[in-house]
Amino acid sequence: MKLVTWLALFFGFLVVEGLTRTCTLRPVGHGKSDNSQIDAAIAACGHHGTTVFEPGTYNITKKMQWNLVNSRVDLHGQLNFIFDLPYWMDPAHTYRAIFIQSQASWFVVTGQDFTIDAHGTGGIIGNGQHWWSWYGNATRLDGDGRPVALSLVNVTRGTVKDFTVDSPPFWCNAVADAKDVVYDGMRCVAQNADETYFGQNIVWNTDGIDTFRADNISLLNFDITSGDDCLAIKGNSTNIHAQNITCRGGTGIAFGSLGQYADLPDYVNNVLLEDITLIQPDPQVQPLMEHGVYFKSWTGTRIGFPPTGGGAGAGLVSGVVVRNVKLDNVTTPIQLYQTNLGHPGDAPSKLQFANLSFENWTGTAQDATIIDFQCSSAAPCENLSFQAIDVSPPNGTSSAYNCVNVASSSGLPAGACPAVKEA
Ligand SMILES: *[C@@H]1O[C@H](CO)[C@@H](O)[C@H](O)[C@H]1NC(C)=O
Ligand SMILES: *[C@@H]1O[C@H](CO)[C@@H](O)[C@H](O)[C@H]1NC(C)=O
Ligand SMILES: *[C@@H]1O[C@H](CO)[C@@H](O)[C@H](O)[C@H]1NC(C)=O
Ligand SMILES: *[C@@H]1O[C@H](CO)[C@@H](O)[C@H](O)[C@H]1NC(C)=O
Ligand SMILES: *[C@@H]1O[C@H](CO)[C@@H](O)[C@H](O)[C@H]1NC(C)=O
Ligand SMILES: *[C@@H]1O[C@H](CO)[C@@H](O)[C@H](O)[C@H]1NC(C)=O
Ligand SMILES: *[C@@H]1O[C@H](CO)[C@@H](O)[C@H](O)[C@H]1NC(C)=O
Ligand SMILES: *[C@@H]1O[C@H](CO)[C@@H](O)[C@H](O)[C@H]1NC(C)=O
Ligand SMILES: *[C@@H]1O[C@H](CO)[C@@H](O)[C@H](O)[C@H]1NC(C)=O
Ligand SMILES: *[C@@H]1O[C@H](CO)[C@@H](O)[C@H](O)[C@H]1NC(C)=O
Ligand SMILES: *[C@@H]1O[C@H](CO)[C@@H](O)[C@H](O)[C@H]1NC(C)=O
Repeated sequence: MKLVTWLALFFGFLVVEGLTRTCTLRPVGHGKSDNSQIDAAIAACGHHGTTVFEPGTYNITKKMQWNLVNSRVDLHGQLNFIFDLPYWMDPAHTYRAIFIQSQASWFVVTGQDFTIDAHGTGGIIGNGQHWWSWYGNATRLDGDGRPVALSLVNVTRGTVKDFTVDSPPFWCNAVADAKDVVYDGMRCVAQNADETYFGQNIVWNTDGIDTFRADNISLLNFDITSGDDCLAIKGNSTNIHAQNITCRGGTGIAFGSLGQYADLPDYVNNVLLEDITLIQPDPQVQPLMEHGVYFKSWTGTRIGFPPTGGGAGAGLVSGVVVRNVKLDNVTTPIQLYQTNLGHPGDAPSKLQFANLSFENWTGTAQDATIIDFQCSSAAPCENLSFQAIDVSPPNGTSSAYNCVNVASSSGLPAGACPAVKEA
């Protein structure tokens, strides 16, 4: 008998040998863990095969890694990562597959030429509410071990479709050391329901997705409820296309933070973000809706080391287009600063931002400052372009623009963003 048949008999899932092998899973139930049967099915069908998760809730009690090659996964059910904070926070119980900030992952997908299709019904249950309430309004640290819900690492030509992450404890998604990846249909829901904290943001770090060392990535049809970055384009993200993105709450769409690693320059090139809607949730429940899009780098002085400290990294962000954006009462529509976690007297950042274009923005802002560029004196911003920016400031105020160290720009009212260099 073949090994796969033994595995299937042992674990009770069904293997059909055809042109490609198919493994079909059902939740084991009876208070048992589903990790073993899932590991066995992925081992049997994850290369040149199909794995089908029938509807239902799968009990995930341990970290999980899938290596998929020429493979399809139909995830009709939900992977329910148990709530056991001390267990997951033990470094032995997660992976550290994401280089930046040594972030932890409880579920890592690697490989090439695969599709994971959750059909609008499947995905991950993160039980994040327990995590958010556990921390309350205490300080959270990068790299502290809170796990990313879904991590694609070392992936070439992978697709994730119609997938929901319900209540991620930390980042909803990460795509790192990856290329030619398509996410089409991603819903992340980090919405606090603990009344003790209504009106405060306790869902920090629930980013929709972070891209790092990632090339040719499509982010299509996202709906992200978060208390942090909706999308975060981090270092060495190139050829990124995001389209039809709805962000509900949080800090907005971020480029950065960049320049955290003094010895590793960050290059971000050719990013197109279009058809973006930002919606403010009820501020009595979840208060933040900070930006449309914002750019941030560390200063030119290194203070401490990653994951929590750092700075002094160089690099270049060039070729960014953000167009067709609708804003609902965001604090500051477009912002750039180069003093992330910096101190007075730090050296100016050497990381440069250039060739940034903003077109066709509508909606409302909470502050009169619609555009706020605070570029570094050591690397002034170049070639900022604004077209059809029609965002209303609060009633009774008129739009203000702030440009520091902007070498050249076009499209703002005369004098609004003078192309002068500050000493
Ligand atoms: C998940 O499996 C563990 C055993 O590993 C068990 O203690 C727990 O009750 C199970 N949870 C559910 C919801 O079945
Ligand atoms: C990704 O690939 C690198 C280089 O081959 C390897 O060192 C690393 O362990 C891989 N990471 C994962 C999560 O497979
Ligand atoms: C980008 O990735 C997509 C999806 O894998 C692929 O179809 C396309 O050919 C890639 N583009 C380039 C320029 O490699
Ligand atoms: C932390 O949350 C508690 C409970 O809501 C509240 O009483 C306290 O003021 C909060 N502290 C801060 C610093 O927000
Ligand atoms: C945009 O994405 C949402 C899911 O977030 C989807 O329901 C909607 O159909 C998409 N719109 C278009 C025009 O594709
Ligand atoms: C980004 O890529 C460049 C090479 O293009 C490399 O020198 C640099 O170390 C990379 N940065 C990071 C953060 O990986
Ligand atoms: C401007 O953006 C809106 C969405 O916010 C879109 O409906 C409209 O077609 C865009 N206009 C142009 C000229 O692209
Ligand atoms: C905009 O947001 C502010 C701060 O949360 C809130 O006070 C104000 O009522 C909101 N305005 C509208 C029109 O929703
Ligand atoms: C300015 O940036 C645009 C892209 O936003 C680019 O097409 C154009 O070539 C740039 N101009 C200069 C002078 O660099
Ligand atoms: C801006 O874009 C133009 C055209 O692509 C390019 O030639 C130039 O080098 C870019 N500027 C910077 C500072 O990268
Ligand atoms: C601002 O003025 C517009 C037009 O007069 C009105 O529709 C809107 O309700 C006002 N918004 C607030 C927050 O007062």
